[in-house]
Amino acid sequence: MARQRIFSGIQPTGIIHIGNYVGAIKNWKALTDTYDCIYCIVDYHAMTIEYNPSSFFENIMAAARTLIACGLEQDRCLLFVQSQVPEHTELAWIFNCLTPLGDLERMTQFKDKSRQHADNINAGLLTYPLLQAADILLYKAELVPVGEDQVQHIELTRRTARRFNNRFGMVFPEPDELLSITPRILGTDGQTKMSKSMNNYIGILEPPETIKQKLLTAATDPQRIRRSDPGDPDVCNLFTMHKSFSPPEIIQQIAHDCRTAGIGCIQCKETLFAYIMDELSPIQQRAAELERTPDLVRATLEYGAQRCRNIAQQVMEEVRKKTGIR
Ligand code: AMP
Ligand code: TRP
Repeated sequence: MARQRIFSGIQPTGIIHIGNYVGAIKNWKALTDTYDCIYCIVDYHAMTIEYNPSSFFENIMAAARTLIACGLEQDRCLLFVQSQVPEHTELAWIFNCLTPLGDLERMTQFKDKSRQHADNINAGLLTYPLLQAADILLYKAELVPVGEDQVQHIELTRRTARRFNNRFGMVFPEPDELLSITPRILGTDGQTKMSKSMNNYIGILEPPETIKQKLLTAATDPQRIRRSDPGDPDVCNLFTMHKSFSPPEIIQQIAHDCRTAGIGCIQCKETLFAYIMDELSPIQQRAAELERTPDLVRATLEYGAQRCRNIAQQVMEEVRKKTGIR
């Protein structure tokens, strides 16, 4: 039987942080063992907010290096840049013409970004989720591994597939989101989702000293003020990170020691730091190697783009026939 297809994407915003890693990318690698996986660097999505054209290409290359270093090598999956497969924007246009404005105005991310970028509420920011729907449906993907903040967009993708199929005839399956065990990581402030724009992130390629410093000063359970106060691991962002990086027996031990004030937050953080670096050190090394071999990175992206173009062209043929374009 053919393997089920997975599709996911990430914006080339210049940094990949621990939220991206444990919310999505770590899963992306694991899924390559059992699924047919396609991963995309979504440069067109990144153009919906203010960006610098002169560093854009380097940001794309940096994202590619980081993703390959995380294990998304060419022999495991297809990795490519969205703008290299023009069918994405072509299909997005058709979805634009099928979708009521109200559906887009309701999107939480649109509302958040409209607040954050009040001086640049462009049409792309509004139709962003339809380009995302096109990314996914162009490959007839059935599963989409993402963090929690993307669930609403995947729901809209399902609705878009349904709308298209009802209007023009069956073409697209309705995909499901696939969440990791830690689908929402807070920033080092412990207040909002870890994100580059909030400057509360820990980059996975940051020097170990920086990662340690950021962890040591990160917010923990706010009820735990003195070393002797028992804490609640379920409300502590650092414990969420433990769940993703530490072995099961350590996770249990940490939860117990936190609840009984057996250890303080500093010790908990030092243990976490050691496990994080166990996992990130080889990734950092591989990323540094890839920086010295840009041709290999470009070849990986080109291989991915070629294969994806083939798939995308076939699906667009179907779409064109159904929609009467020809
Ligand atoms: P982005 O950087 O917005 O393109 O996000 C790439 C992937 O990382 C998406 O699947 C997001 O849902 C996921 N992600 C981003 N921030 C977080 C976070 N703080 N916690 C968990 N997942 C996240
Ligand atoms: N909107 C997603 C984010 O900000 C990125 C993205 C674009 C995506 N296209 C996608 C994720 C397709 C999954 C599938 O994280």
